[in-house]
Amino acid sequence: MKDFWKKQLEKNKKLVFLAPMDWYWDSAYRQAMKRVSPHIFCVSEFYSADWLIHSRFLADSVLPHTEMEDPLIIQIFGKDPVIFANAAKIISESKYNIAWIDINMWCPAKKVVRSWHGSCLLINEQTAFEIVKHMHEATHLPISVKTRLSFDWNQNLINFIKWLENAWASLVTIHGRTAKQAYTGYADFTNIYELKKHVSIPVICNWDIVNYTDWMKKVKELDGIMLGRASFWNPWCFIWEPQINDDDFIEKTWVKRENFIDGVYHPTLSEILEAMEFHAEKLVETKWEKKWSLEIRKHLVQYLKNFPWVKKYRKRLVTTESVDNTREILEEIRKEFSEDLNKRPSLNEIEKKEENL
Ligand SMILES: Cc1cc2nc3c(=O)[nH]c(=O)nc-3n(C[C@H](O)[C@H](O)[C@H](O)COP(=O)(O)O)c2cc1C
Repeated sequence: MKDFWKKQLEKNKKLVFLAPMDWYWDSAYRQAMKRVSPHIFCVSEFYSADWLIHSRFLADSVLPHTEMEDPLIIQIFGKDPVIFANAAKIISESKYNIAWIDINMWCPAKKVVRSWHGSCLLINEQTAFEIVKHMHEATHLPISVKTRLSFDWNQNLINFIKWLENAWASLVTIHGRTAKQAYTGYADFTNIYELKKHVSIPVICNWDIVNYTDWMKKVKELDGIMLGRASFWNPWCFIWEPQINDDDFIEKTWVKRENFIDGVYHPTLSEILEAMEFHAEKLVETKWEKKWSLEIRKHLVQYLKNFPWVKKYRKRLVTTESVDNTREILEEIRKEFSEDLNKRPSLNEIEKKEENL
């Protein structure tokens, strides 16, 4: 499992990651994504290194996962190299079967930065170096880092990443904004392209990538991309047209050739409804009913976000109480749109319904 991404890079294939997303990405979400896009690598939402070493309960609830999610990457945050190393030892226990560990040097949230966690490590090179080094000594798993261009433009990205490379980081993901910019402003990839020329570990870029045609424009010489929010309503955003000729890929997923238009996959209504049902079923396998209903609601509406013609079902989807109830609603949609199930809503092929609702 170690360095498994190398195989892909050796075949000249770019690496594609599902970004870590606190409050969104759990086992069910990852399975929903991998069902359609088995080639992607999933990174978990961030967990506190501190909590992991103090609560076996947390480790036992977040580290076990299904085979479908493999190879799974676990992201942790913190500030103390020794605590990171101890957390790495727990994550590396063979029973959890985790593929590698990612360190969050990304988070710009005030409370995280004020306590010297997350993106604050960008201004604390020595600690960042010690964290990676201690973890490397504590685990056989590869260590990667997710970070930003800099904290406030006063740091040198190339020097910072070279430090991490010297401490044995195996891969870095760079988000095209500074911590001060947080979520705003124009994302700039120029410095990331420049970084690639100066380090030998794989460099992944992240921010505002929406689909294959978009990432082909941005990835250039970089080793891959990481994509987050675009997958909220579109698990198909990770797939690309040339994969149609990849037998291995076709065997593991189901996509219809005719749904690729200008390199972008446009799922049919039937595929979208199936994806929603799968997600709901997987979530109930891992969460108790009350929690399940609170969580699935936000996902269900995201899947239908761009389709005004289903607005009358939205209200019911955001109040669904059980998987059976969700299935009933989906069944009603299927019945009402029975003639349109093989049409592609994202191309407005079901326009006439809009007028009737
Ligand atoms: C709700 C939410 C939660 C996030 N949680 C994390 C996290 O736990 N760890 C992390 O490194 N990044 C986190 N991020 C940042 C994303 O991983 C990603 O870097 C960001 O959304 C930009 O990528 P995108 O434009 O493809 O969405 C989060 C972002 C959002 C919107």
